Amino acid sequence: METLLAAFQREVVLAVQSAYSLTVDDAEISPCAQEEFGHYQCNIALGLSKVLKISPRALAEKIVSHLSPTIKNHCSKIEIAGPGFINFTLTPSYLSSQLGLQLADKKLGSAVPSKKQKIIVEFSSPNVAKELHVGHIRSTIIGDCIARLFEFLGHDVLRLNHIGDWGTQFGMLITYMFESAPDVLKGKTETDLASLMSWYRAAKTRFDEDLDFKKRSQLQVVQLQAGDAEAIHAWKLICDVSRKGFAEIYRMLDAKLIERGESFYNPFLKDIVDEFEKKGLISLSDGAKCVFLEGFVNREGEPLPLMIQKSDGGFNYDTTDLAALRHRIFEEKADRIIAVVDAGQSLHFQMLFAAAKKIGWLDPSKVQAEHVAFGLVLGSDGKKFKTRSGETEKLIDLLTGAIDKARAVLQERLPDASEQEIATLSHIIGIDAVKYSDLSTHRLKDYTFSYDKMLRFEGNTAIFLLYAYVRIRGIKRKTAANMQELLSHARIELHHPSEISLGLHLRRFPETLETFTHDLLPHRLCEYLYHLAEKFNAFFRDCRVDGSPEENSRLLLCELTSRVLHQGLEILGLKTVDRL
Ligand code: ARG
Repeated sequence: METLLAAFQREVVLAVQSAYSLTVDDAEISPCAQEEFGHYQCNIALGLSKVLKISPRALAEKIVSHLSPTIKNHCSKIEIAGPGFINFTLTPSYLSSQLGLQLADKKLGSAVPSKKQKIIVEFSSPNVAKELHVGHIRSTIIGDCIARLFEFLGHDVLRLNHIGDWGTQFGMLITYMFESAPDVLKGKTETDLASLMSWYRAAKTRFDEDLDFKKRSQLQVVQLQAGDAEAIHAWKLICDVSRKGFAEIYRMLDAKLIERGESFYNPFLKDIVDEFEKKGLISLSDGAKCVFLEGFVNREGEPLPLMIQKSDGGFNYDTTDLAALRHRIFEEKADRIIAVVDAGQSLHFQMLFAAAKKIGWLDPSKVQAEHVAFGLVLGSDGKKFKTRSGETEKLIDLLTGAIDKARAVLQERLPDASEQEIATLSHIIGIDAVKYSDLSTHRLKDYTFSYDKMLRFEGNTAIFLLYAYVRIRGIKRKTAANMQELLSHARIELHHPSEISLGLHLRRFPETLETFTHDLLPHRLCEYLYHLAEKFNAFFRDCRVDGSPEENSRLLLCELTSRVLHQGLEILGLKTVDRL
């Protein structure tokens, strides 16, 4: 289905063409900020007036007079306002018929993509032997949501977990474990991610203090990179233990990921440097191979290089990311590459993309590569989130904490619910609350993590939306309507202003998703759903459903609302509940 916005866009472009023999590609259509002025607004006359040297109002009038009879029929009012805006108000009957089509559409009115894109969403990407922390929570939640969006729209999505599973840190960890936990490395004793983490910390201390240990660790790295059997065996074991720890969290968050960590690109690293060298793009700086890129300078104003091979011959994070980018462009043949990584790495990604353009791998007219950045999670003190012991909060504790808090809220609210029911509900609501509080904040902003705030029943929270959903289900249950039958013969008829307002908002669902595909800002979808719940509540306050003459139409409006709400929540990665 075409969105209403796209339909107005198309119609106005045609009208400008017929009025002035002029081809414009953007008719500047947007939803009206206030419904009493209209449903959609067109701002093209203001810009065109400067080009054509005609007053914007005169221009607007002529454009309106050239609009097709079809669009005029669909509108109850087309008004020219202020300096020359054109405001369109749709007739209730047209809007009703549109909602009927939307109800019959599995995609709820979203256009089938004219070209299915291959979209890589890289997210989560924690480091082996280091437990996931709250900094990884945002990447996992935002990345999963973006992947769900494109999957729903029918694209071919590859969800990649670029875990940090290679590098010099393994040298010290393996050396340490050979000394302090040999049975683990021999496979005689089992271990977990938490133990790995503590060994990692201890190894780091030893590395910084003990010169002999440092030397042995560096040797261990060389052996690992040379493929020494014992070193590889130890490395694999460490990765396996970490993987199990990560999987537990992904299960809780219901986030699916394909692991393709840094080690995957190891065989290509030498070739990356060779190719830059062959193209004459390498400069030596203190023995390290560097790529200098225009426009990148350090604080002193000196050129800032991208280092792709260290003076000791080792490759690094930058080399691996270049290899990953090349692989995604040429082997995966991605149309769009989205890396969901904290804002602290913005400069790294800018330089990475600049280098890939410079060598000719990345052609922005063919492949869209984006760093989807996000801000920090803060504690109630306004500083980076820390546990009481001062360590960065571990993600698993954070999630279990939310589930526990949700359980307390539910036990009070639903005293008659069984133990089992409370357990299921609190799991869903705890996780939903964490996800929603993250997604509903502008992703570039830092946000304060607060269980109390995220578990509120009022305001822009997960529970508020879930409650609206539960309410609609209650209405359907109460009327005992046979929805299948209703769908086959009844239709939506909008009359009351609250019905029209809800109907218009429902029809805008696909537009919201469309905008989301461009700006990749999940809070816009959250805002949309929040307004949907509010509009539904207003409708339910103003319009009786059960036993009214409009019962059938209103039940269908409820049905469409619950479908859109459910689908929207699913894209955010939230699960719904049956009671609350
Ligand atoms: N492992 C890194 C970290 O935890 C994030 C990796 C981001 N992705 C990338 N392609 N560099 O900081």
